[in-house]
Amino acid sequence: MNSKVERALNEQIHAEFFSFYLYLSVAAYFTSHHLDGFSHWMRIQAQEESGHAMKLFDYLIERGGTVQLMALDEPQREWDSPSAAVEAVLKHEQFISQRINDIVDLANGENDHATTVMMHWYVNEQVEEEATADTLFHQVKMVEGSPHGLLMIDRELAGRPAAADASAQE
Ligand code: FEO
Repeated sequence: MNSKVERALNEQIHAEFFSFYLYLSVAAYFTSHHLDGFSHWMRIQAQEESGHAMKLFDYLIERGGTVQLMALDEPQREWDSPSAAVEAVLKHEQFISQRINDIVDLANGENDHATTVMMHWYVNEQVEEEATADTLFHQVKMVEGSPHGLLMIDRELAGRPAAADASAQE
């Protein structure tokens, strides 16, 4: 396959696995602050991120590309407040969306139509992920300073169902 696209997809596998790491780190932060619903939600999101990485992993192999896994940086572990932790997640999703858009541009420029079509799944997924993180951030900001409000959100987040298998989704 096209070597520029192959490199970009490998870098995106790396970015998705870093997302997995970041969400796990945020989950650990919330566990240490006794917000188990937030922690549960972040763990499920970490699973989704691993699914995003594996969907690209499988695609690269299917196209005859070579998977090259790279070292992961240590994610941040502490935040000043629950809203700062959720904001970190929101900013990260915005960063990921930009990367996804760049890959679509690259695939278009290289006339790699199959990659363009496959990456549309990620474009749509990012719309949802950014919107979800944005809503959560604003809700947490809204109740800042109110333990009662935070516990209500925590209870709601505890009900997030297990992650869907992204690699099985069209
Ligand atoms: Fe895989 Fe949350 O982006």
